[in-house]
Amino acid sequence: MNLSAIITALGGRHAIQQLLNVGPSAISNYLTRGHLPERAKPIIYAALTKKGYQIRADDLEILACPPATSSQPLHHDTHSGKRILLIVAGGIAAYKALETARQLQQLGAHVTGVMTDGAKQFITPLSLAALTGEKCYDSLFSLTDEAEMGHIRLARSADLVLVVPATANFMARANAGIADDLATTILLATTAKVAMAPAMNPAMWAHAATKHNFATLRQRGVHMIGPVSGDTACGEEGEGRMCEPADIAAAAMQLITPQNMTNAQDITNGRNHNKSPLAGKRIIVTSGPTIEPIDKVRFIANRSSGKQGHAIAATLAKRGADVILISGPVNEPTPDQVTMVQVTTASEMLAACKAALPAEIAICAAAVADWRVQSISDQKLKKPEDPEAGMTLALCQNPDILAHISSASNRPKLVIGFAAETKNLLQNATKKRQRKGCDWIIANQVGGDADPVFGSTLNQAMLISANGVDEWPQMQKADLAERLADHIEAEVTR
Ligand code: CTP
Repeated sequence: MNLSAIITALGGRHAIQQLLNVGPSAISNYLTRGHLPERAKPIIYAALTKKGYQIRADDLEILACPPATSSQPLHHDTHSGKRILLIVAGGIAAYKALETARQLQQLGAHVTGVMTDGAKQFITPLSLAALTGEKCYDSLFSLTDEAEMGHIRLARSADLVLVVPATANFMARANAGIADDLATTILLATTAKVAMAPAMNPAMWAHAATKHNFATLRQRGVHMIGPVSGDTACGEEGEGRMCEPADIAAAAMQLITPQNMTNAQDITNGRNHNKSPLAGKRIIVTSGPTIEPIDKVRFIANRSSGKQGHAIAATLAKRGADVILISGPVNEPTPDQVTMVQVTTASEMLAACKAALPAEIAICAAAVADWRVQSISDQKLKKPEDPEAGMTLALCQNPDILAHISSASNRPKLVIGFAAETKNLLQNATKKRQRKGCDWIIANQVGGDADPVFGSTLNQAMLISANGVDEWPQMQKADLAERLADHIEAEVTR
């Protein structure tokens, strides 16, 4: 082995130190001895091969040099120019991070590995370093790293920070802003895009704490890739399985390719929803009733199960939209992959909508109570002794949330309302669209003898827009949500 030639080929002593995570005296020792330690050989082999050298595997003899253009210093990407910092967290799916690194490289990315202590229980830094041909970083307090690279520079040097696998614990730490190791410190320090591929046991994935962490990270702009349903490593079946490395690599590369630079990209349930024009679009959906207190025990509310609003939120999220579901109290489960904001009164719903703006689309499916009690009693109101005596409540009007959104200075491009009418459906709903200033109204007849709407899984509606009326047959609320999503897709691609 011609060690001097190898050192020169890889960019000098400093570059080799960094690659092997050793100090300057180690390199002097290698030169004196004339050979490398066994553990260093696969790393050097991979680094030389990556730079285009032809190497004899057993003694690392350089057989042929690369063409002049690929003989560049270490850390210079020879392909897409995109740099990915691959953080491997401590879960059983960590072994798939190696394949993800390989796939990313095949797509032209320059990959640098970072591992948590937990990850090292599953795979070794050496295997990641050998695959990437780059030093794998694992310690926040390594003086060498701090002198040569430093966590801030490491965090800033990437186009994308990709966490594979993102365990429940890692997401919890990331959500809380804890920076107690190199990986989580990088997450706080980076200004690059961040993507995570969650992987865990289905019960851990279903836990409210995990759901909360996932939703909050997503709301803060972290791009989530999966998880999907299937067999998990712990032998259970359900949602929580990590996406396949090829899918993760493809989604990651899409995030940093110029045409997708502004859009969030999510892959859910194994389907790449980037194909939908709604992928990454921020959409506000209101759902359920609002409840307006009268006193400590009584309230005024509208009849609404939240089924239709929740179905719309679920459908849009499945198509990759960034959905903020603002809902009054309902018994419906929160759809996957949405950011849920629970409210009670119309005023709270309005405040939540204002906070969620700006958004590209807003869909107001909530049955907002039109009235609230002027002054809420802080005690239970007692009935008068006289059984004949009446009772008068002074009410005032609630804010109209749909009208507010439609006239907001940061108005979404497409605002959609619902109209529940007991008579003159088309006429009343058309007037309502104009009065509230929204683009479309989904109108449905309610209160009839065979009323299929409240609490039912069925709905029958018509879409009223400036272009006319589109009458839809009776269908499941989930199907109506799909149909509406199809219309929205068509509108945003017009
Ligand atoms: N809406 C709203 N805020 C309100 C009342 C209604 O955002 N305070 C929205 C609903 O979410 C729905 C649309 O406005 O998208 C129409 O709701 P609907 O109850 O049919 O109409 P109202 O405004 O209540 O009018 P009316 O009671 O006179 O029919």
